[in-house]
Amino acid sequence: MSHDLFLAARAAMAKSYSPYSKFPVGAALRTEDGRVYSGANIEVASYPEGWCAETTALGHYVMGGGGKITEIAVMAEKMARITPCGGCRQRLAEFTTPDTRLFLCDDTGVVETVTMGEMLPLGFAGDTLK
Ligand code: THU
Repeated sequence: MSHDLFLAARAAMAKSYSPYSKFPVGAALRTEDGRVYSGANIEVASYPEGWCAETTALGHYVMGGGGKITEIAVMAEKMARITPCGGCRQRLAEFTTPDTRLFLCDDTGVVETVTMGEMLPLGFAGDTLK
């Protein structure tokens, strides 16, 4: 992973709006043609209505034109090696392939590299819905 994806995730984490959990998370993804989109978790007073960093990043990615995602980085301020929640695994899977690399980071760099296939084995795919 180039360092810029890690830096984008870390910069996004600094923008987290998480006054309730006080658990800032940042995510960044790169497209095949080199675009980088990032996001932070955003919480609201009605707790279930908040959403994850990965989801913010995916919103930016779709609005920026979408395309093939090649790499994803995620990190949390208070966890050495965060993994995306179940819902975000499903959301990320919508726009990735099983071989897409996911970099699990702390605030200094990559701690572990996994693939989306490892993150969401036997996941539900919407092919037959189209
Ligand atoms: N969170 C994320 O942003 N991404 C994850 O993959 C796991 C959890 C956020 C949601 C909530 O704002 C806070 O972390 C605590 O659950």
